[in-house]
Amino acid sequence: MNKKNLYIYTIGCQMNVYDSEMFARILEPLDYIQTDSLEEADLVIVNTCSIRKKAEEKAFSFLGRTQKLKKKNPELIVAIGGCVAQQEGRNIISRIPAVDIVFGTDAIPRLPKIVQKVETTGDRVIDVEVNSDIAETMPVVEDAENATVSKFVTIMRGCDNYCTYCIVPYVRGREKSREPDNIIQEITNLVATGTKDITLLGQNVNSYGLKESMCSFPELLKKVSEIKGLERIRYATSHPKDMSDELINAYREIDKLCSHVHLPVQSGSDKILKKMNRKYTREIYMNRIQCLKEVRPDIAVTSDFIVGFPGETDEDFKETLALIEAVEFDGLYAFKYSDRPNAPAVEFEPKVPEDVARKRLEELLQLESRISKKRNQAYVGKICQVLVEGQSKRKNEDGKNQWSGRTSSNKIVNFALDVSKESKDVVGHIFNVEIKNALEHSLWGIEKEV
Ligand code: 5AD
Ligand code: SF4
Repeated sequence: MNKKNLYIYTIGCQMNVYDSEMFARILEPLDYIQTDSLEEADLVIVNTCSIRKKAEEKAFSFLGRTQKLKKKNPELIVAIGGCVAQQEGRNIISRIPAVDIVFGTDAIPRLPKIVQKVETTGDRVIDVEVNSDIAETMPVVEDAENATVSKFVTIMRGCDNYCTYCIVPYVRGREKSREPDNIIQEITNLVATGTKDITLLGQNVNSYGLKESMCSFPELLKKVSEIKGLERIRYATSHPKDMSDELINAYREIDKLCSHVHLPVQSGSDKILKKMNRKYTREIYMNRIQCLKEVRPDIAVTSDFIVGFPGETDEDFKETLALIEAVEFDGLYAFKYSDRPNAPAVEFEPKVPEDVARKRLEELLQLESRISKKRNQAYVGKICQVLVEGQSKRKNEDGKNQWSGRTSSNKIVNFALDVSKESKDVVGHIFNVEIKNALEHSLWGIEKEV
């Protein structure tokens, strides 16, 4: 049978990146191979995100491009998956008639059957059925031909937290955890093909297994850490309210657990946190960070922020800035609040004017830029263990190759290596690197024998 070209366009979070890899893998038996060329595609899949309006608009503008392609090649199959597909379902067809397949977040295991049906009948398929067993029906990654040093593994789907600004519980459904044995099997397979650094993914990983009374998240971390050949474990995203003492203690007990935590705080004002339904106060958040820093003094902390949430005053925003100064985040993602359908905050008043939200965002990012530079500067002169992920495109000043990797604290390090060592496999190995220079988003150094 002739091979067919599959083009996947992924928008949104790391879970979408993981799902897109899954699309490619489960469509291989139908003779689809991934291509980087949209023009040569026989099947285009857009994996969408609806967390903010902008992300949704990006999906529709890309789908608009596929309309033109379809005019040139009427055989082309266009599919839309992910959160926008789940949320909009059939409406998408009336907006973009070129679309052949709309498949929701729980329909992934059914994707091969859906594609086959469209190939044979030419009919459109809309599958946005919600399947509460999705976590268990997701195929385990069996082969990992495209193995890389770092990989994501989704351990749970959905969310039960109902933060008032967030659309996730309405599109991704209730929280569902995967069986620990399936997760261990998947990671073991990846490690066998060269993966060294795993990020466990979910909307709220630190409540993993609680609902199902399976093993807890710290227990899962312990099991994962016992996989031989795996060097590093990361996770994202976690919720401050579920940052338990048991999990903090895991940083003492599990060496492979990386010195980095992404702990979205969203705001520094208790009034706004309450309106967001975040279920913690600024004091509780600060306490969790302090405990983490006591157990792992070198831990890097990153976070998410929303500015311009309805009712946010200058005073509330100042409290957010003060929190950023107090914690000294290594990095952060900040967003202007965006009204989402179904999320309760749509009804909240008063809305913050766009220009005020924009100014706040700029001010917040300026502050963070100063702080993250300072945090990076503190690495200069230190020796870090860098897990190499690849070769940089640029050579250094002496014409030597530059390698790129990350520290346990998730800092990107570019470094030069003694030429005599380049004959060995460099990618996937950990080197001691003396940090010589700090930039805002990366560090630079040279390899050092210790
Ligand atoms: N508007 C702006 N940002 C949002 N986020 C989630 N929902 C919204 C929204 N309606 C942000 C939060 C979350 C991150 C993934 O996206 O900061 O942690
Ligand atoms: Fe959305 Fe809150 Fe769930 Fe995160 S924890 S996915 S912000 S509802």
